Amino acid sequence: MSRVLSGIQPSGSQHIGHLVGALENFTRLQGEGEAFYMIADWHALTSKYESVEEIWPATLELTATFLAAGLDPDRATLFVQSLVKEHAELHLLLSMVTPLSWLERVPTYKEKLQNAVADLGSYGFLGYPLLQTADIIIYKAHKVPVGEDQLFHLELAREVVRRFNFLFQREVFPEPEAVLTKAAKVPGLDGRKMSKSYGNCIYLRDNPAVILEKCTRQMASDPARLRRTDPGNPEICPVFEFHKLFSDAETVQLVGTECRQAGIGCFDCKKRVAEALTRRIEPIREKIESHLGHPGDIEAVLRDGSARARAVAAETMADVRDAMRLPVL
Ligand code: TRP
Ligand code: SF4
Repeated sequence: MSRVLSGIQPSGSQHIGHLVGALENFTRLQGEGEAFYMIADWHALTSKYESVEEIWPATLELTATFLAAGLDPDRATLFVQSLVKEHAELHLLLSMVTPLSWLERVPTYKEKLQNAVADLGSYGFLGYPLLQTADIIIYKAHKVPVGEDQLFHLELAREVVRRFNFLFQREVFPEPEAVLTKAAKVPGLDGRKMSKSYGNCIYLRDNPAVILEKCTRQMASDPARLRRTDPGNPEICPVFEFHKLFSDAETVQLVGTECRQAGIGCFDCKKRVAEALTRRIEPIREKIESHLGHPGDIEAVLRDGSARARAVAAETMADVRDAMRLPVL
């Protein structure tokens, strides 16, 4: 049976980019094989070591979001990385056979090192993609649904797998493959990629009034369309991108034609986007709030999922120790 694994860091609220980019894929894949979805709280520590108190609340919120978006704890194993300590053991063992240069040349490493707010010059941060490798291969996962920004990490995981299997002359791990989302990147309110660090997000916990406000006041449109009577070009307008992602086919068609003929004003066009977004997000938002009202139930899901994950991880570690001739006493 094919196994799927992915993880998300618990670092703040989830936005619609996460919904379209990751969560919908996660939900689809939980029906196709055995699925493991992890809250990567150790990974969050690489940058949040000065605000550790934020990680557990963010873990609860992320789990509530998983559930609200349609992940079903009976069909997918939802778990917390730090509760499956075998990941740390595998990370350590992999660190013995991974050349330092493989980690230093990961493009996201240098880039983040220079741009980050926190000091990322730690040993743990360099090892970030190797810990991610351990997360994936400890479940012998075949498919890893991720965004494009994770492709280098997946490539490293594949190289590490080949090296491990070769060194110890055993096919302990299969080579994992990335599963990319069909959806293009979700633009932010300003037209750049939606990202918390740009402050251009629509969050899954935004209520209808906030969504309307963000869409009508902050969303960028075709900059060449200055007056209501000027025709616009929907193809270069971020608002139209949102219509394509969230409105029905009829509305997309209508807005596309009307915009070119100056038949619809940008304000009305944005109001319609807000309506479409609200229709999509409001049910999720309500579910997130309702799950967050019962933190004990969320903990139970995580406790149960983490125990299931641990059982699988422990089996793999027995193979690994055997392959590496570590003693069993
Ligand atoms: N690095 C991933 C991210 O920032 C999170 C992550 C941690 C992950 N472990 C993983 C993703 C394992 C996929 C598989 O989004
Ligand atoms: Fe963009 Fe809509 Fe204005 Fe056209 S009418 S420029 S699609 S906001």
